[in-house]
Amino acid sequence: MKNVLVTGGAGYIGSHTCVELLNSGYNVISIDNYSNSVPESINRVNKITGKKIISFNCDVRDKDRLFEIFSKYDIYCVIHFAALKAVGESVKDPLSYYDNNIFGIINLLEVMKKFNVKKMIFSSSATVYGDNKVPYLEDMNTGNVTNPYGRTKYFSEQILSDLYYSDKDWRILLLRYFNPIGAHESGMIGEDPNGIPNNIMPFISRVAIGRLPKLTIFGNDYDTPDGTCIRDYIHVVDLALGHVKAIGKIDDSKSGVLDCFNLGTGKGNSVLELVNTFERVNNCKVNYEIGNRRSGDVASCYANVEKAKRDLGWETKYDLERMCKDTWRFQLNNPNGYKN
Ligand code: UD1
Repeated sequence: MKNVLVTGGAGYIGSHTCVELLNSGYNVISIDNYSNSVPESINRVNKITGKKIISFNCDVRDKDRLFEIFSKYDIYCVIHFAALKAVGESVKDPLSYYDNNIFGIINLLEVMKKFNVKKMIFSSSATVYGDNKVPYLEDMNTGNVTNPYGRTKYFSEQILSDLYYSDKDWRILLLRYFNPIGAHESGMIGEDPNGIPNNIMPFISRVAIGRLPKLTIFGNDYDTPDGTCIRDYIHVVDLALGHVKAIGKIDDSKSGVLDCFNLGTGKGNSVLELVNTFERVNNCKVNYEIGNRRSGDVASCYANVEKAKRDLGWETKYDLERMCKDTWRFQLNNPNGYKN
């Protein structure tokens, strides 16, 4: 069985990806520093799959620990999720973002190189496109990002590209995520950020369950059909399956490869559509008010997904209704998140 090392395996996207990797017959080794996740999510992945993740409390910046882990296991491929991801926080504390996200990936790559593990799937983001013309295509200009978080994703892509050009044995896939929401259908794992959520979906579900009083919709005067921003919301399980396809692509490539793929649905929905759909399919109320625009938000962001369809043989299965239903099931089953 192939050992896949998942950094950030206890996190939101990481845990869902671990489920799909285990279900596809991979052995999963997770490292996580639990800064925005809890070990309980790993237990739940084990329960869902009936298999067992080998997990370590380890920071990607801790080279000695990485050495120990790479010495002990024969790693086939690394999927690198572990990173900080809050845009506002990155503006206030850029050094933490560069330390975690940039020093972290360099450290990890150095250890991989030392152990001759040259297969890497990287969690990138649609944020690298900045404010381009929609739909975003993989060969569009990137790097026009407006915040330190986004720059760490852009710089990481550049670091990985430079590494590939220095040694074409590397097999590197950059996956650019659009807006992941939803949860595993079991209702056992889902998104559970620390503190007040920055992203919209955990905010909506905490308002609906009464943990937060009200959602503020950031602006209704954008140049969009209902005035609220448009995003490409993708079910986290579809996203997770994209990673399994990406490993398949790495398996199939006879020589080194560097490539990037948009992982989205290719469809945009407005913030109001998301809120209305959530209320309708879950028969609940989401109190909201219209507030000011949030600085750095773009009016419209959605993917062209033809390349992932063609080259990864991947496409999304779940629609917005399903994303809303699955989010709500996780919230109802875990009113206080993983801290029950
Ligand atoms: C942001 C980042 C993206 C990152 C993603 C995951 C940017 C520009 N965006 O995406 O790179 O990968 O988070 O962390 O860097 N909204 C509200 N009220 C809220 C929260 C959000 O109206 O309380 C709106 C936003 O204005 C936006 C939409 O909901 O239109 C989605 O916001 P969010 O979930 O924060 O994701 P993005 O900003 O699209």
